[in-house]
Amino acid sequence: MNGWRELIRIENVTKRFGSTVAADHITLSIGEGEFFALLGPSGCGKTTLLRMLAGFETPDSGCIFLDGKDLTAVRPWKRPVNMMFQSYALFPHMNVYDNIAYGLRQEGLPAAEIDRRVRNALELIGLPDLAKRKPGSLSGGQKQRVALARAIVKQPRVLLLDEPLAALDRKLRVEMRLELKRLQSEVGIAFVFVTHDQEEALTMADRAAVMKDGRIMQVGTPEELYTRPANLYVAQFIGEANVIGGRLECIESEWLLRQDTHLFRVSGAEVRRHGLMQGSLAAIVVRPERMFIASASSVAERKDYNGLSARVIEIAYLGSAYNFVVQTDEGRRFFVQVQGAEGSPSYRVGDVVMVGWGVEQGILVPMDEFGNTNPPEGIANKLR
Ligand SMILES: Nc1ncnc2c1ncn2[C@@H]1O[C@H](COP(=O)(O)OP(=O)(O)OP(=O)(O)O)[C@@H](O)[C@H]1O
Ligand SMILES: [Mg+2]
Repeated sequence: MNGWRELIRIENVTKRFGSTVAADHITLSIGEGEFFALLGPSGCGKTTLLRMLAGFETPDSGCIFLDGKDLTAVRPWKRPVNMMFQSYALFPHMNVYDNIAYGLRQEGLPAAEIDRRVRNALELIGLPDLAKRKPGSLSGGQKQRVALARAIVKQPRVLLLDEPLAALDRKLRVEMRLELKRLQSEVGIAFVFVTHDQEEALTMADRAAVMKDGRIMQVGTPEELYTRPANLYVAQFIGEANVIGGRLECIESEWLLRQDTHLFRVSGAEVRRHGLMQGSLAAIVVRPERMFIASASSVAERKDYNGLSARVIEIAYLGSAYNFVVQTDEGRRFFVQVQGAEGSPSYRVGDVVMVGWGVEQGILVPMDEFGNTNPPEGIANKLR
């Protein structure tokens, strides 16, 4: 990111509800005008973090700064922060124009200024003709846009959005992703966006924080999270993953991972990335689209590949790709995605094939308390 400048700094923030630690020593910076996603499963503390930014909750310990100024004692309505609620909370008896103008009138701005800003906002959300309509007569997507216009018309420094697309059907949700992204870059307000949908976070965010149990597992650009996950939890949360857990060995300066009796080749660069050592417990993560599937007769002992013989147990046609689930004699399962029609008619359920990946396509992560090393069942289930 060019010219990144810190806007919000969350420093060592902890928040407990009884015995639940909703935020556990969270430290995080968000940039000016950044589209930042908080991503994690239900109950991991996303909403709590947003509510602390908005001032609706107070941290038990730690501080939140905006522009270097401590917000702790600043009341919610005095913060240059606005929150868009999932329910939109539009006033049903007011038309669209008045809904958007409401906050500005509360501030006592001159009528001409209010009119200018509301018309701009209506233009921005692409609904200038709906000014006189009541919320009850709007579609879900239109209500969403009006709520957004109402939130940005006050020109906050930060807009907090808690699962803003959750109420929309899938098609509209995908359209609104682009819309939100466009809008955000036009208004230049920092968006802190909560979602438990990793695809949503990856397609919209400049950067995202992956959370678990009130803790931040990793902060990075979507590409960093996908290609260089910090641990197994992130690797499995972001995208699909084939996982092989084992112990690292270095034999004649080549790095290998031993699982049971099998040795898999590992990228030395990946071993160094995490500072792992001989004997470290680690997992190889291979994305399904990075795996290959080939005919059994094509077995070649190449040093830059890992290859196994396996049997096809499931095939699913996705239009643009084929998904295969294959299983080795030892019971290892792999999920392989083949783009296009390539390879499709050549294999059938029951065929014995070669499955594998280039050593450099294998991501290595340290084995730690966060991951789960047994995802292939889950992957197979997703095919159904
Ligand atoms: N006011 C409260 N009183 C008691 N416990 C709370 C309160 N608010 C949140 N919690 C607990 O804190 C944890 C984090 O909740 P939070 O709402 O922040 O999760 P979330 O990541 O937003 O989840 P979801 O995706 O389901 O919205 C949960 O275990 C929740 O039950
Ligand atoms: Mg929530």
